[in-house]
Amino acid sequence: MKASLTELAVQAPKVELHLHIEGSLEPEQMFELAARNGIKLPYADIEAVKQAYQFGNLQEFLDLYYQGMSVLQTEQDFYDLTFAYLKRIQADNVVHTEVMFDPQAHLERGIAFDTVLNGIERALQQGEREFGISYRLIMSFLRHLSEESAFETLALAEPYLDRIHAAGLDSGEKGHPPEKFERVFARCRELGLKITVHAGEEGPPEYVWQAIDRLKVDRVDHGNRAMEDPALVRALVDRGYTLTVCPLSNLKLRVVEDMSQHPIASMLEAGLKATINSDDPAYFGGYVNDNFRALIDHQLIDRDQLYSLLVNSFDGAWMADSARAGYWAKLDELFARG
Ligand code: ADE
Ligand code: ZN
Repeated sequence: MKASLTELAVQAPKVELHLHIEGSLEPEQMFELAARNGIKLPYADIEAVKQAYQFGNLQEFLDLYYQGMSVLQTEQDFYDLTFAYLKRIQADNVVHTEVMFDPQAHLERGIAFDTVLNGIERALQQGEREFGISYRLIMSFLRHLSEESAFETLALAEPYLDRIHAAGLDSGEKGHPPEKFERVFARCRELGLKITVHAGEEGPPEYVWQAIDRLKVDRVDHGNRAMEDPALVRALVDRGYTLTVCPLSNLKLRVVEDMSQHPIASMLEAGLKATINSDDPAYFGGYVNDNFRALIDHQLIDRDQLYSLLVNSFDGAWMADSARAGYWAKLDELFARG
């Protein structure tokens, strides 16, 4: 019997390319860490946290996201956060993850760079040993802060760059175009870092142009609004950019009004290398498989498109070519057999 689309999506080996580790802080763990660190949360209970997660736009989410991460204080907290995420994605058959973290959001609270990095990395190493999940680390700059602050953070990170694969750019997009950080990312490239930048989530197509032409990114995070500009779509296709699309995030942050209007199929039909990711799973209602389920339940993708999304994510991953080829072969086998 043929496996259903959902069964195929669940069984397939997968990659996650767009995940903010601080966005994987589940309400239960938020309460646990708050108790451990003697922090008072502005919520009566877990149900109240869940109730609060209704967002009208990106900024409304970010306000709660920065507040939530205040419970992360020690290296052990960052370890526990990251290991909980890894256990969760192992259940989703994720075999490789590229994890973003926001050093400035912790530095501002007096948490040292190496406290954050050591905790996250120790969990990632254990996840690789115990679950076989390979990883990359992406250090993201907060775009609502200044260029100067980004440079200061990069200087702090320099002794650790052998452990960090890429630099990213996130936080409130509107009014903070990629060009604000052109010099920072030029320096990142000189330092040998890969670059991936949030663009076209809420911001206009012009921000995606700036990301590719001025920041010279290797990948684009989200990129939804590129669909408004046919010349931009052509450039993204011709130059082979991977887009890290996040359907449940798009729904929760009102980038799309309704899941049935999600542009994933149009993106694939245009030839874009779209991939499926969870962004901030604890805030947006699900991990990678939940994102695939949402697309399948709304009949937004067919079997060939599911296959393309899976292949694209391995294609866009910063992983060894030999590992990539092995996973592609597994996908071929699964789809031929399924
Ligand atoms: N930081 C965490 N999640 C984000 C998102 N979806 N967009 C911008 N910044 C973020
Ligand atoms: Zn994101």
